[in-house]
Formats: sequence, C-alpha cells, structure tokens
Amino acid sequence: MSSFRRSFSPSPSPSKRPCPSLKAGKPASKPPPSTSALSLNTELQNLSRNKRGHAALQLYNQNFSTVDSHHSSIVLNALIRSGLISESFTFLKQIEKRHLESTEAYTIIIKGLIHSGDLKLAYAYFQKMLLSKKTKPSTRTLNTILRGCLWSSGGGVSGILDNVWFKYYGEKDGSSYEYYVECLSNALRIEASFKGINEFCEKIGWGNNWSCVDFSKGVEENGESFVSCLLNVARGMSLLGEGREGIEKVIEKAREGIYAIQVLGEKEEIGEKKKMVGGKRGRNTTDERIESNRLFRSHKLSSITTEINFLHQRLQTSSWTKKMLKGEMRRRLFVFSGGATTDHVKRGVKGDEEVFSNLKGLGSHILPSQNFYPSLLTDNKINFNVVFPSSNLDTPLNLELGSGTGSWICNQAKKNYRENYVSVEMRTSRVSRTFSHSCLLGIQNLCCISDSATTFLNHRNDDNFNNIYVNHPEPPNQDGGESSDASHMLNEGCLELIWRRLKVGGRFILISDNLQYTQVLTRSIGSLIFNRKLNFTNDSTVVIGSENLRVGESIKSKGSISLDLLKGIPSKSLGYEEGGESYFDGLWKTGAGSHSSRDERYILCLKKCEIREEVEEKKTVKKLGEKSGGGGKKNKKKSAAKQAKRNAKRLAQKGEGDVLESNPKPKGKEEGEGGLSTKDLIKRERKLKRRAERRAEAAKEKKDGEDKE
Ligand SMILES: C[S@@+](CC[C@H](N)C(=O)[O-])C[C@H]1O[C@@H](n2cnc3c(N)ncnc32)[C@H](O)[C@@H]1O
Repeated sequence: MSSFRRSFSPSPSPSKRPCPSLKAGKPASKPPPSTSALSLNTELQNLSRNKRGHAALQLYNQNFSTVDSHHSSIVLNALIRSGLISESFTFLKQIEKRHLESTEAYTIIIKGLIHSGDLKLAYAYFQKMLLSKKTKPSTRTLNTILRGCLWSSGGGVSGILDNVWFKYYGEKDGSSYEYYVECLSNALRIEASFKGINEFCEKIGWGNNWSCVDFSKGVEENGESFVSCLLNVARGMSLLGEGREGIEKVIEKAREGIYAIQVLGEKEEIGEKKKMVGGKRGRNTTDERIESNRLFRSHKLSSITTEINFLHQRLQTSSWTKKMLKGEMRRRLFVFSGGATTDHVKRGVKGDEEVFSNLKGLGSHILPSQNFYPSLLTDNKINFNVVFPSSNLDTPLNLELGSGTGSWICNQAKKNYRENYVSVEMRTSRVSRTFSHSCLLGIQNLCCISDSATTFLNHRNDDNFNNIYVNHPEPPNQDGGESSDASHMLNEGCLELIWRRLKVGGRFILISDNLQYTQVLTRSIGSLIFNRKLNFTNDSTVVIGSENLRVGESIKSKGSISLDLLKGIPSKSLGYEEGGESYFDGLWKTGAGSHSSRDERYILCLKKCEIREEVEEKKTVKKLGEKSGGGGKKNKKKSAAKQAKRNAKRLAQKGEGDVLESNPKPKGKEEGEGGLSTKDLIKRERKLKRRAERRAEAAKEKKDGEDKE
C-alpha cells in the first residue's frame, strides 16, 4: 500500500543538477538551465500532476526546439499518468529519434506498462536497459518492476521476479527489499524470504542474520522496511500453518523493531519541534508534504502493528493447517489478472488473456497443478452457489469492488456469516492479504477475486447481487475534478455494469472521503439515468437523522432526476458493521490527504429500479390521445390514428415520407389512417429520436476531440 498516491516525478536529469564549479583541466560543465527552460519544467510538471497528458504534449510540441531530455521525461510521465499508453509509445519513439531518451524515460514506460497490466513487456524494457550503456536501470527502475511483480499474477511472475533480482547490478534500497520479500512471502516461498531479509541486513550493516539484529544501536530509515519484511514472512508462515515457535520468533523481532522505530520517531518529533520554535518556518508546501509523509508513515506503522498483533493472537487461538489452506484456496480464491490500475473500457483491459493462473501467482508450488475449476466455473463464469455450498437462493450475495487489503469486507463477512461476500481487487498482493486474513479469521463466506472490476462484472459471473459496495474509490485526479485525461474504476461503463449486476431492489453503496469526486459520480449516474442506460432511485430505507446521516445535497440532472448525496458516518442502515475500518478510511482519518476529509464521509445509497420502457410507451400513447381531447380507450385509438396521419404528412414534407410509405403493412396490426399502426408509428418516432441523439452525440464527440487536439 505504501506506494499509493505517491506521485512519480522524475529525478532531475544530469543537466538539471547544480553545476560544479569550473576547475582547471576539467571539461567545462553544461551551463545552468535558462529561466525559460525552468518555467517550462514547472508548467509541464503541473500538467503532469493534474494528469493532463494531451495538454502537456501540446505544450512540449510548441517548444520543440528548446526541450531537453528532462522535459521529455515529464511529458512521458504526464501521458502515462493520464493512462495514454499508446500515445506514450509514439512519444517515446519520437524522443528516441532525437536521442533524448534517458533512464527516467524508460522507467516511466515500465511504470505505465505495469499500470496497464503488461508485466512481460515491462520486463522486456528492463532487460533492454540492463544491456544499455546510456540508460542503465536505476534503483527506481528496479523498484518499479518489483512493484509490478507484486501487483501481478500468473505463472511467469516468479521467473521474472528472480531474474530481475539476480540480474540487476545497481543499488537496492529498503523499498527494493520490502517489495521483493513481500512477493516471495505472498507466493509462500518462506525460505527465499528469509534469505532476502538476511541479505537486506547484511547490506545495511546489521549482520547477516535477521534474528540477531540489535536495535539498541538505532534503526534509521530502514527499520520500517525491515519490520514490514518480517510481517510479510510471518503472514506467509501463518497461512502455511507452520510451527508456532518459528512464527513467534519473527513476531517478537518485528515488535522489537516497531518499538525502536517509535522511540526514534519521538526523538525526531522533539527535534522537529525545537527547530520550529527556534526558526521562522511557516507552513509552506514542503512542510505540508513532510507532515503528510509523516502521517502516512505513522499510519503504515500502526497498520503493521495491528497486523502483527492479529497474527500473534491467531497463533494462540487458531488451529489453521496447510491442508485447510489447500481446500480454501481451491474453493474461494480466484486470480484472473492483476496489475492494471483502472478499467480502460475503450481500450480493453490488458493482462486478462492470462486468465486462470490461479494458484500460480499465490503459492502454486505447494499445490498440485490439477484443474479444480470445472465445478466452480462454467464458461469462465464463477458459480457462486458452488463456491458457497451452504447457500440457497435467498442467501444475500454482496460484492465489494476495489476492496484493497480487505479489512472492511472481512469484518462484514465475519459479522454477517449468514450472508455471502465477494471481494474484487485488481492488485494481486492485496487480494493475497484479504485471503490470508479471511483464512486466519476462519471466514468461509468470502470469495476473493483478483480481477479488474469491469471484467469481473462483464464476464465472470451471471449472478445478481443484493448489495454492491465501493469504499474510497480512487478518483482520476486527487482533487476529484473532471479536468484530467485519466480513467478510473467507476467510469460510465462500470456504473452501468454495477446496475446490471444488481437484483431489482438491490443497492449500490458508495463511500468516499472526496466530496468533489462524489458529486462528479452522482452527476454521471444522473445522466446515465436520463439516457436510460440504468435506473436508480434514492434508497428510502436508509435511516437519516438518527444515525449521524443527513442529506448533504440533492444533485439534479436533466429530466427532473434528483439523487441524494448523503453526508455523515456510514452505519447500520447502510449495512456497515462496526469495527470494519478500511485501510484508506483509517489513512484519511489521520489527515494525510490534502483533498480528503478526515471524518466526514460522502455517501451514495441507491436502489436499483428497472428501466421503464413499458410505462414510457404507454405514456406516449396516452399523450397522443390526450392531445386530441379524447379520454376513453376508443377515443385514444382514434386520436392516435389522427396523430399518425399528421406525423406521416409532416415526415413526408421533410422528405422522409418515402421511407414511411415503403414500410410493408404489418399483418394483423391495428392500422392508423396513414397506413401505419400506432405501435409502428411510435417505433418510428423512437427510431428518429435515437438517430437524432446519436447524431448529437457524434457531433459532441467530434467537438470534444477537436477541443483536446
Ligand atoms: C483507494 S483504494 C481503496 C481500497 C479499500 N476499498 C479501502 O477503503 O481501503 C482503491 C482500490 O481500488 C483498486 N482498484 C482501482 N481500480 C480498480 C479496478 N478497475 N478494478 C478493481 N480494483 C481496482 C485499487 O487497486 C485499490 O486497492
């Protein structure tokens, strides 16, 4: 989780580093960058931060003659951050032609490939860098690809991980070891994990045996990574049902480390306070960033502590065994794909071709590679009635999309053991945590799925859910606004699928800390309702007032559609059990996010209704009847016929009459005076209306495209 929301900004290229003073006999160093080059830097960085890839590219092209390799890396980063993968490849070719490629540029490309789920191609670029003199991989490149291994799944990951680790010859830092050991522990490669931890200790001068590390000499900045490595390996050992003594030893060492870090943290804080009292430091952006990093790290440490305590407590009470693990893995863990950040509906999701690599990503070596899918899957769709054997048609089925490390859904499933739960998350490492947590808690009514939300909703199941939850979805932009090129999980395609996969009367519940983003999503749902892509209403069963919940605002869309955006604290009537704080809920409560509210939560709770085609049709007929002043059934028909005649005349005048007249008369249908039945006429009108809407949409798209260009 640590990499979350940390934006990637390329380190200064050699040309941007401070100029060493000229010394006799040494070649003259490059002149410092001009003011215009520096201001272009800033402008491009801002566009990149706001994920405005197209605009960054445009600005770059306007300054084509002056740009350098650093500017090029920033633009590449802007394109990648905006999810514009194919544009970034075209751009890379362009900079390669001008010899402006750099280690930063390739690292960014690797990052983009990993975010779109293509670990193999990312690895190919990494290999290319290993062979190159000009663009050798840096620590950042290594960490980027290791993160990719962590997020991805599939048989190839282990091989890539080992190759990357052993072929890379540059510097490794604390994060490198953290990622590496987590990958190994998730794959239940315990021996290799310990080897990695010992290598880490040796590297930082802590001896070559993790169990003998002496924290009394201090922990420095590597303490957190070390403790995180120990936690991961302890989790892996617990899941494998290994001996209590061994796990206890790891937990004990991790606790020692946590204690040492906390003591160090206190000292640092006292030092900081002294500095603040003595100096004139105001709260500038840098201070805010330092503060936010501090909060982020302290939240991470407190999550590690919570999990270490949890593992220790389970060790005392749980009788979990390796045999049980095999059974549970086979029944309720599905690893379809991993790695891709968001659903790119238009482009399709990469990495999904490598489906059914279940178990290969997570501990395949301990399990026979037999095919256990037939009863669980039909046509690649999960049979939840087989996954949850004790369920019947009435057992509620709940789904969480983007479930992260699963603390919220595990708590829900544990408390509501008569209902069934499904978690969908695209980062395999997080699915692994959800799964192991559920095993150690003895939860059986939770199915953990590594997949992208849209692919899951579209292809992997036929069931309909009672509730679909989304907690703290990632906005395309940190400020939650619409002015970026980036895509996000809850795009319109995904919202439509959420509606489809709900039972009629089922609920879609969204909780966010970001007001602006929730408003954007509500408007988007409103316009989908207006365009008849889906139909939701406000759920009137939510208890407002008595539960710290209130209607924050009613968001109006076309066609008098009004959706309530609730504010307050998610509670029982929304189906939220106590004590299930998610990782991000906890993080925002620390105040670490500048665009996130600490305590206030923005909530949508919508109930699925059918799209009312039939009712609409009747209404149209009635309207036609009413116009001619009719009231009864007979009159209605008669006036509709008159209207049909008028319409036919009107259309004929517009040059469309030939189409109407050439329509064959449907047999046995009620005929209007104009030779067409009322039903046909309504159909005809609808067709014309849809055509007009399509034209308007095409014109809008064209205009948007032109605007972007
Ligand atoms: C901000 S985190 C919130 C995690 C968790 N719900 C919580 O509250 O702690 C968003 C999660 O959504 C996942 N995610 C983003 N896009 C996704 C997609 N298209 N399909 C599945 N998961 C996705 C991310 O990997 C991440 O774990």
